[in-house]
Amino acid sequence: TISACIFDLDGVVVDTAKYHYIAWKSLANGLGFDFTEEDNERLKGVSRMRSLEILMEIGGVDLDQETQLKLAAKKNEEYLEYILKMTPDEILPGVKTFFEDLKAKGIKIALGSASKNAMTILEQLKLTSYFDAIVDGTHVSKAKPDPEVFLKGAELLGFEPANCVVFEDAEAGVEAAINGGMRCVGIGSPDVLNKANFVVPGFEGFSFETMESGLNK
Ligand code: G6P
Ligand code: MG
Repeated sequence: TISACIFDLDGVVVDTAKYHYIAWKSLANGLGFDFTEEDNERLKGVSRMRSLEILMEIGGVDLDQETQLKLAAKKNEEYLEYILKMTPDEILPGVKTFFEDLKAKGIKIALGSASKNAMTILEQLKLTSYFDAIVDGTHVSKAKPDPEVFLKGAELLGFEPANCVVFEDAEAGVEAAINGGMRCVGIGSPDVLNKANFVVPGFEGFSFETMESGLNK
């Protein structure tokens, strides 16, 4: 039986990747190199500091710890400028309908995100009240594919991992769910998310029944 659904935030509920991209790009440009949309794909589901490491790798630059912390903070300031302009219109299509469907069926909803800005984003989208439990980047010490973020969510709700379904758009996130003993619905492309139990392009037309029949295949 399914008792709870645990959602990743970035790339599942909302497309924040475009804002991360603008902010990382301007940081890269400031450091004297370019940062492409393709490069940005590598940062999906990856923590802020690890993202900066990857960015440094791309630019072939080496920075000391103190500078890294300063630059990550600067990147976040620019990112926040965009986040604070977000409105509920930016909730991805079908997400809210699916949340309502889950509520009506008594299924609990949790957040499992690596982002330290998750609360701000949920507030901007006016979605906070839908969540029965919220676990974000401020609550965990181990990054996906470690299952910590999802296991904490299950624990807060009081359910076994086997009764939770995770929704993820990043490969590391799908692995985290599987590592935690949960089933996982991939949001995106089946080529990338081949470890998920099944993959859909998004939530448009997606319902509790779609989820059940997909998982029982
Ligand atoms: C999510 C995003 C990543 C982002 C990470 C940390 O996992 O997919 O691109 O780097 O959260 O986000 P933060 O808001 O804490 O910088
Ligand atoms: Mg994501």
